[in-house]
Amino acid sequence: MADDDASATRLRPQRRASSLFKSKLRAPARPDHYVRRIRLIALLDDAVTAPLTVVVAPAGAGKTSLLAAWAAETTTPTAWLSLDESDRDGAQLWAGLTAALETMRPGCGDRSAPLFRRPGTLADGVRVLLDDLDAGDAGAAGERDDPPVVLVVDDLHLVQDDGPIAETLAQFLQHLPSWLHVVLISRRDPPLPMDRLRARGQLREVRFAELRFVADEAERMLSTLVPTMPGDQVAATSRRARGWAAGLRLGALAVRAAQARP
Ligand SMILES: Nc1ncnc2c1ncn2[C@@H]1O[C@H](COP(=O)(O)OP(=O)(O)OP(=O)(O)O)[C@@H](O)[C@H]1O
Ligand SMILES: [Mg+2]
Repeated sequence: MADDDASATRLRPQRRASSLFKSKLRAPARPDHYVRRIRLIALLDDAVTAPLTVVVAPAGAGKTSLLAAWAAETTTPTAWLSLDESDRDGAQLWAGLTAALETMRPGCGDRSAPLFRRPGTLADGVRVLLDDLDAGDAGAAGERDDPPVVLVVDDLHLVQDDGPIAETLAQFLQHLPSWLHVVLISRRDPPLPMDRLRARGQLREVRFAELRFVADEAERMLSTLVPTMPGDQVAATSRRARGWAAGLRLGALAVRAAQARP
């Protein structure tokens, strides 16, 4: 019985969740120095009409900031899951994914949860979860077309190299119900049949080429961070960062520290 209670806590994380767990289901807040990038918001508005969007770029490229900003302004219902090291455990990962989906479709994980908990039945759990999400697709009368929902999964690179996780994710992502669109954020290409998904028109990609700050965006970010930065320093810092968001931030902090010195 004690085991069952412990399992229930893991299975119904959204109902008996710690605040740490709940915080993983919220998109991070935009920082004070946030610079709105309309071209990328528009790009995402379009990309998320595909079943799967991957946002792949190195650390500090601005992936999380962009998706958090997009999620804050889109009218499309959006669920969010930030992964961490604890999600390298398949049961934990699927509990998190289910909890994120349940913020949009309460009860959708009721039948799959016991399977995610039991060793060796992750793939069965995914099959049942897909069935139950699909049932929501058709509605009681079998006629309703649900409006789209976007699920954003951040920091996938932390878990994507685990074999069972990669397999079950691929199984899930290749059989999504038509209303569910997924955005995966990672520092590396996810282990998915990318060519096949691309060829079928099911995949959209946002990479560093798009994410890198163009001159105007870099200047706006630097002058927001250090309003007193002289124009030549703005240009030099922007050049050095080569469009890398974290580089701009670090450059601005260095200038601010230098200005603060007596
Ligand atoms: N549009 C923006 N406006 C202002 N600052 C930004 C913007 N985009 C990114 N940054 C800043 O750049 C830094 C890196 O951004 P972010 O954390 O989004 O990168 P990331 O690609 O998600 O990195 P990681 O792979 O480490 O998670 C952060 O300090 C963030 O505040
Ligand atoms: Mg990030």
